[in-house]
Amino acid sequence: MFVITGASGRTGRAAAVRLLAAGYRVRAVGRSAQRLADLAARGAEVWEADPTDPAALTDAFRGADGIYAVIQPNYIPDHPDFRAFQDQVAASLTKAVTESSVTRVVGLSSWGARHPKGTGPVMGLHRFEQRLSTVPGVDTLWLRAGYFMENLLDHIDTAKAHHRISAPFDPDIPLPFVTTGDIGVRAAEELATGTWHGTEVLELQGERDVSMREAAGVIANAVHADVLTYQQTSLDDFHAELRSKGVSVNVADMMVEVGEAVNSRYMRTEQPRTARTSTPTSIERFMEEEFAPRYRAARPD
Ligand SMILES: NC(=O)c1ccc[n+]([C@@H]2O[C@H](COP(=O)([O-])OP(=O)(O)OC[C@H]3O[C@@H](n4cnc5c(N)ncnc54)[C@H](OP(=O)(O)O)[C@@H]3O)[C@@H](O)[C@H]2O)c1
Repeated sequence: MFVITGASGRTGRAAAVRLLAAGYRVRAVGRSAQRLADLAARGAEVWEADPTDPAALTDAFRGADGIYAVIQPNYIPDHPDFRAFQDQVAASLTKAVTESSVTRVVGLSSWGARHPKGTGPVMGLHRFEQRLSTVPGVDTLWLRAGYFMENLLDHIDTAKAHHRISAPFDPDIPLPFVTTGDIGVRAAEELATGTWHGTEVLELQGERDVSMREAAGVIANAVHADVLTYQQTSLDDFHAELRSKGVSVNVADMMVEVGEAVNSRYMRTEQPRTARTSTPTSIERFMEEEFAPRYRAARPD
């Protein structure tokens, strides 16, 4: 039986669906059984536990052959101290792994998590790796995922209204764009059949590296836009834009740090691109299947 944390979320749900489809028993963990109802309908055992509650997670992990451990959600926009929240969830997951005597963990981390600081929210994932990897007798595989293609779904309104997408990233820096679905599938496959020992790190770099300029072109094709360009925003303007949308100073500061880290190449992939570090979904397919339908459904420009 495999335990999936964050099972109502993006990577967790994909992992649970994959394991269930392959005939494995799955315990799907989330804060609300209602949000896990579709997984229950597919045969999952649903388990309510808050990610900040180590006792509840310990109960959830008992008897598992392996767990998928994820600090969720992706981020909390108005949180006054998101790193403290990440540390709290990391501590809770680590205590639960220790107390439940689980011996196999696939953990979700990020490209850039090698660095102890200077990477915004990825610093919390570095600390998660460090903390959980100290538990004796546990084989842990860290999936250091690239930049989620789903992040681009936040640009739909701007794309439609202003025929551009904008972000603080240099237009030509190659980014390891990956889908959350592919990450979840890989997590499931590693849990079911992976053969790692001790603590290992595996980057998931997506189908290929894609720059923001190229991504804008792919979006333009997918939505049949005559004009759709990429505009690099200054870090100050990016911070101000986030603040105007209600993002806390703490989280806006972290997001700016990601922009700096990516543009300076401090944050970059480090493992060679191979079949194992690559995932199947191309950015073209993602834009056709995920971006374009939402774009068409968005309010008219
Ligand atoms: N964005 C990127 O480019 C990127 C790249 C690499 C790694 N990552 C990492 O990926 C992880 C996110 O994975 P994911 O996308 O699979 O997760 P996700 O989809 O963001 O997780 C969403 C789930 O989080 C739970 N949730 C929502 N608000 C919450 C709150 N205030 N407190 C506690 N739980 C809450 C909800 O589950 P319930 O309501 O059912 O509990 C929801 O289904 C993060 O650790 C992030 O750092 C992100």
